[in-house]
Amino acid sequence: MNRLRLALTKGRLQKQAVEVFERMGLDCGEISRGGRRLIYEIPNYPMDIVLAKAADVITYVEHGACSLGVVGKDTILEKGRAFYEVLDLGFGKCRFALAVREGEDFYGTYRRRRVATKYPEVARTYFANKGMDVEIIKIEGSVELAPVLGMADGIVDIVETGATLRENGLIPIETLCPVSARLIVNVADMKTKKEAILSFIAAVEKETGGERGAAQ
Ligand code: PRP
Repeated sequence: MNRLRLALTKGRLQKQAVEVFERMGLDCGEISRGGRRLIYEIPNYPMDIVLAKAADVITYVEHGACSLGVVGKDTILEKGRAFYEVLDLGFGKCRFALAVREGEDFYGTYRRRRVATKYPEVARTYFANKGMDVEIIKIEGSVELAPVLGMADGIVDIVETGATLRENGLIPIETLCPVSARLIVNVADMKTKKEAILSFIAAVEKETGGERGAAQ
C-alpha cells in the first residue's frame, strides 16, 4: 500500500487530531512527546505526519507535497479550496462572529464601517453578500485590540469560548458560520493513491463519526 503523507495544523488542532489517530491505533508517541521535529514517521502505519501552519497545510495538499491535511474550516474559507474536503472531524469547533465594542451601533450609521480581521476574504465576502461597502483592515493576531484602540468599528474573528471578547469589552452581534476541523485530500492523489486514502478516511470516520463530504 502507498505510504501517505499528512499535513497536520500545529497548535490547537494538533492535540485533538493526534488523539483521534491514537484511538485508530496509530503510534503517535513521537509527536506527543513534543520537540522541534517537523516530520514524524508513524512506525505502525504507512504514514508520515508533517506539522505545519494552517495556511501551509492547504498549500502542501494543493501542491501534492502531502496527500492529506487536517485544517480548520476557517482557513479553508479564507484560502480557497483546490482540494477535496472529505470529512468534518467534529473537533476544533468554534464560529466566525462579527463583534463590536459594547454599546456600539454597528449598523446605525451611513459612515463606511471599518472591520479588522485575520480573515479578510471571509469578511469581504460576508459584507459583499449584505451589499455593504466595508473597509477591511488585515491584522495578524489579537484582532480584539483593533476596536479597543479605536482603529475599527468591529472585528470578524473566530470565537470559541467567547472569553477573549468578554475580557476585552467586546460582544458578538452576528454569527457568520460554524467552524470545525476538516480532513482534506489532494485531487490527483485521490485517484493515484485511492485505496490507501479511502482506507484512512474510513478509519478516521469511524473514530470521529465525521460526515463524509461535509463541505458546509
Ligand atoms: C483565537 C481568536 C480569538 C480567540 C478566541 O486567537 O482569534 O482571539 O482565539 O477564543 P475564545 O473565544 O475561546 O476566547 P488565537 O488564540 O488563535 O490567537 P491570535 O489571536 O494571536 O491569532
